[in-house]
Amino acid sequence: MAVKRYAMLLTAAAVAMVAALVPVTSAGQCVDAKPGANFTNERYYGLWYEIGKIQTAGGAIFEKDCVCTNIAIKADPSGKEGDAVVTNSCRKKTPQGQYLNATAKLIQETVPGIWQESFFPFAPTQTYTIIYIGDDYAVEYDCESVFGLLNYCIHILSRKPTQDPDLTEKLLNDSINMGLNPEKLDYVKTLQDGCW
Ligand SMILES: *[C@@H]1O[C@H](CO)[C@@H](O)[C@H](O)[C@H]1NC(C)=O
Ligand SMILES: *[C@@H]1O[C@H](CO)[C@@H](O)[C@H](O)[C@H]1NC(C)=O
Ligand SMILES: *[C@@H]1O[C@H](CO)[C@@H](O)[C@H](O)[C@H]1NC(C)=O
Repeated sequence: MAVKRYAMLLTAAAVAMVAALVPVTSAGQCVDAKPGANFTNERYYGLWYEIGKIQTAGGAIFEKDCVCTNIAIKADPSGKEGDAVVTNSCRKKTPQGQYLNATAKLIQETVPGIWQESFFPFAPTQTYTIIYIGDDYAVEYDCESVFGLLNYCIHILSRKPTQDPDLTEKLLNDSINMGLNPEKLDYVKTLQDGCW
């Protein structure tokens, strides 16, 4: 009898714990975003400047002090079909600061414009999607959800170190309307003045 009651108590405790966790896990979902219209890998290759971003605190640590941020994308000839290499480059705190460079691989492209991003072999990957692309702009959304903890970033990219503020605002509005910023984090402009 005592054992049975104990088991019931345990079950009740387990149910209460799960119930307490549910709101966290259901809020911590990545959005299954679609790639931008007309996306092709070739359109995404080359150099992009980061105009600004919306990023959770747990996002790429190496980007924390970044200014003058850019990324260069090229096909990975040593990888599988669709694989690419991303060189992230920035300066630490000031345009004269030391380079903080990090290389990542884009792998497992399911449809053009959706990859897994991998910084280290065997480390967890994050979903990496180009949700908008035009001749001189793109928006990249990356996201991972680990045990209900959500990390995401929306990067506004341009082929030049500048962007028409109306375009930036439109891209941000559209991204937010897709539900990509559930934590309602602020947009942060990336310093590009004085870099080039
Ligand atoms: C970092 O990357 C930039 C741009 O690709 C390059 O010019 C620079 O030499 C790199 N610096 C280091 C220390 O790797
Ligand atoms: C995609 O291509 C079509 C046809 O060329 C064009 O009308 C449309 O503006 C393009 N969309 C984007 C987002 O570039
Ligand atoms: C962006 O959204 C805000 C708030 O909804 C709106 O006032 C503004 O006109 C929008 N801007 C663009 C360029 O769509």
